[in-house]
Amino acid sequence: MKISVEGKPREMRALWYDAGKVVMIDQRLLPSEFRLVTFTKCSEVAASIKDMTVRGAPAIGVAAAYGMLLATRDGSELEAAGRLLKSTRPTAHDLFYAVDFMLDAARSGRDPEEAARSYADSIVDKCRKIGEYGEPLIKDGANIMTHCNAGALATVDYGTALAPMRAAWNKGRKMFVYVSETRPRLQGMKLTAYELLNEGIPHAIIPDGASGHFMRKGVDAVIVGADRIAANGDFANKIGTYEKAVLAKELGIPFYTAAPISTFDFSIEDGTQIPIEDRSEDEVTMIDGHRIAPQGCRALNPSFDMTPNRYVTGIITEIGIVKPNEVGKVRRMLQ
Ligand code: MRU
Repeated sequence: MKISVEGKPREMRALWYDAGKVVMIDQRLLPSEFRLVTFTKCSEVAASIKDMTVRGAPAIGVAAAYGMLLATRDGSELEAAGRLLKSTRPTAHDLFYAVDFMLDAARSGRDPEEAARSYADSIVDKCRKIGEYGEPLIKDGANIMTHCNAGALATVDYGTALAPMRAAWNKGRKMFVYVSETRPRLQGMKLTAYELLNEGIPHAIIPDGASGHFMRKGVDAVIVGADRIAANGDFANKIGTYEKAVLAKELGIPFYTAAPISTFDFSIEDGTQIPIEDRSEDEVTMIDGHRIAPQGCRALNPSFDMTPNRYVTGIITEIGIVKPNEVGKVRRMLQ
């Protein structure tokens, strides 16, 4: 991705591995501060996933793969390292997929550094393919709506939901992107708008509650990411996705989710079985360290919601656009 560092554009990934160190952009500080952080221990990488220094399902998966690599380097017990990483966040399926990938790699005697690097590269490659399959959905002059951040920051590079937009933009197609701010952590406003700004793609940040208003004015497609997709095509994504999907159906607007196959959890039949992370009340009641809510009021903070398959027009993946009722076919194809 293009990122502006001290006013100069630089091409970089959200995280990478370099000579015994995992380096990542501290996503908690963007866009006001750009800072790289470096970790040499698996436990530090696990903490960085938990505190959301790195976030977004595919990027969390890659961080976990690198965490497992650090564990092999210092001779830690790999099953225990895997358990630690898997305990950090419950919803993103890529986390579990990546840990299992690294455990399988170790069992088969594969070089751990080569395995972790190839895992990261394959995620970026899949995102580019998602871009190729998804870009025809964006006609010249289209108005697109997205939610949260499913861009390069969430996926190491290129993005899932943002991939079709990047690809269409790079082909010279004009578009306008409505970016919902994504309370409480504001990944839409802080991260997606930042990525679109760095790419020069026209966009505006809108309050989460304004989605219906702008959809009625004229949105051609809604494209969001996914954190876990069940075998029937139900999926979990950032809180607020479900209501956008319902509104899109009500207004006849195509609604897509975009994700690599590593986000699919074929072991669960439907979305009711997806674990939904509950996060701290403080994320809701406080802004920038200041309490906004009345003292004594409680808050509820589910980080994700589940969108049933009937609201999903298609799932944009690295093997093509799949209808929710075709997920079973994908599973059989991969077996
Ligand atoms: O809590 P986060 O920031 O890790 O949530 C992940 C997300 O950004 C989204 O839900 C996203 O749309 C899917 S991950 C590419």
